[in-house]
Amino acid sequence: MKIAASFLDIKEPKMEELKYLDSLDIDYIHLDVMDGIFVENKTYTYEEFYDITRFTTKPKDIHLMVSDVKKYIDEFAQMKPKFITFHYEAVSEVSSVINYIKELGIGVGISIKPTTDVSEVVKYLPYLDLILVMSVEPGRGGQAFIEESIKKIEQLYTLREKENYHYQIEVDGGINNETIKKCNKADICVVGSYITRQDYKEAIRKLRD
Ligand code: DX5
Ligand code: ZN
Repeated sequence: MKIAASFLDIKEPKMEELKYLDSLDIDYIHLDVMDGIFVENKTYTYEEFYDITRFTTKPKDIHLMVSDVKKYIDEFAQMKPKFITFHYEAVSEVSSVINYIKELGIGVGISIKPTTDVSEVVKYLPYLDLILVMSVEPGRGGQAFIEESIKKIEQLYTLREKENYHYQIEVDGGINNETIKKCNKADICVVGSYITRQDYKEAIRKLRD
């Protein structure tokens, strides 16, 4: 299981803390981008994100929780991330956004909220590099894991086996050393507050156990 560390709630001084987190046994740095429209909270501007993350070395996993998807794709593509994931619920032209990210040579992901069923995105699955199952309502860290997400992960796992799709299955929200075990069919776990609220190194060791 790969770990994507979310630094949404990281302590101050953010740049130094993130640099330390980046040096540990994690696979991706997960960037939560919120616009105050698609979700209530608002995070940094692209320039601020660039500044905070400029000393990190791990591949970047961008999670766009925004309405004006193309504007943010254009900005974050400059970081040359591994993945850019947008919310299925945020756009009407899902296929065109998938192609837009693909043409930039970046891994493309779509994310589904806890209330969105896997059946709604089935037709896009052959074209995806990643599918992100939100296991909390998007918008903030530190919420409790929604158990129904497990079923979605398993559905996506079965579909991939059956149809020979290539996407990675990612789960985001409420992941700790207990809930991670229930997500064993996922490939990547996003972990925020479980890491940032304790000794980072110790938290990662417990997640890996
Ligand atoms: C929530 C974000 C998550 C968040 C996870 O909308 O997408 O990535 O940082 O935080 P925890 O692990 O605390 O639920
Ligand atoms: Zn996220």
